[in-house]
Amino acid sequence: MGDNLKYFELNTGAKIPSIGFGTYSTASEMVVTAIKLGYRHIDCAHIYQNEKQIGEVLKQLFEEGVVKREELFITSKLWNYDHEPEDVPKALDRTLADLQLDYLDLYLIHWPVKEKKGPVSNAFEKLLPTDIPGTWKAMEGLYDSGKVRAIGVSNFSTKKLQDLLEVARVPPTVNQVECHPMWQQENLHKFCKSKGIHLSGYSPLGSQSHAKKIGGLFESPILSLIAEELGKSPAQVALRWGIQMGHSILPKTSNEARLKQNMDLFDWSIPEDLISKFSEFKQVKFVQPMSMVHEKSAGYKTLEELWDGEL
Ligand code: A2P
Repeated sequence: MGDNLKYFELNTGAKIPSIGFGTYSTASEMVVTAIKLGYRHIDCAHIYQNEKQIGEVLKQLFEEGVVKREELFITSKLWNYDHEPEDVPKALDRTLADLQLDYLDLYLIHWPVKEKKGPVSNAFEKLLPTDIPGTWKAMEGLYDSGKVRAIGVSNFSTKKLQDLLEVARVPPTVNQVECHPMWQQENLHKFCKSKGIHLSGYSPLGSQSHAKKIGGLFESPILSLIAEELGKSPAQVALRWGIQMGHSILPKTSNEARLKQNMDLFDWSIPEDLISKFSEFKQVKFVQPMSMVHEKSAGYKTLEELWDGEL
């Protein structure tokens, strides 16, 4: 672990900054603001459909000398319709061209889900049986090429990670999953730790957009109580909890004041007696991708199968 949790060391020896800026549904101008404020870890994905715009602003920031490429940790992700081994290097090349970069710090298989090529749709006919070993072999080829400095996965259950470790020549560096006080992923985290796999938490603020319907993290009296005792905002407490647990976190916001607030996590900590209160959070998994399962699909039939019971 790094200086007061500012970064974590990966199984490649590289360091991942503990706070990353999530770019799902985010305007590229916010990436500029985030980098100017000091964010150094940017979490992208092909499917977010904004890598071209992010590439433009990164180029400008490098030209203006605001930041150097080597000071940034940039992640992207392979989408479900690019799982065929021959498509994996093409998908990476497209992402590198869009982001105007010659390498990524981390490339992840976005979901353990394979889809037919074609426009994004919710039709179950698009779902195919996965071949994670084949896709992973192609990811290993990218790692060997040096175009990606680390490879990993996202949305993998303990079982799917175990299966992958049995066939991997290069073990995954990261598993990026939903993680926040209301979905703590204790068992998955223990397993990852035991195998030297770093857990990155997406939706570290309790995935507000999904949570609105069912009462999310910000409605929790436990969080408010802890925040009040520490004189911090509920969001800061949720984020600091994540890094104290050893996860890197990927908060999103479209608001500059909150962007600043979400970085102010390092000159204070949650004491042990308050950390123990986190065991009182009722656990609810917010991310339930119904479009990736179907009883008639050739891939997963149920969410139970997708998450291997971890839901
Ligand atoms: P906004 O863009 O208005 O700031 P998650 O990353 O868990 O999916 O949550 C993202 C949501 O949390 C966004 O809707 C964002 O809204 C909100 N958010 C981000 N930072 C904060 C903060 N410091 N306080 C309150 N809400 C926040």
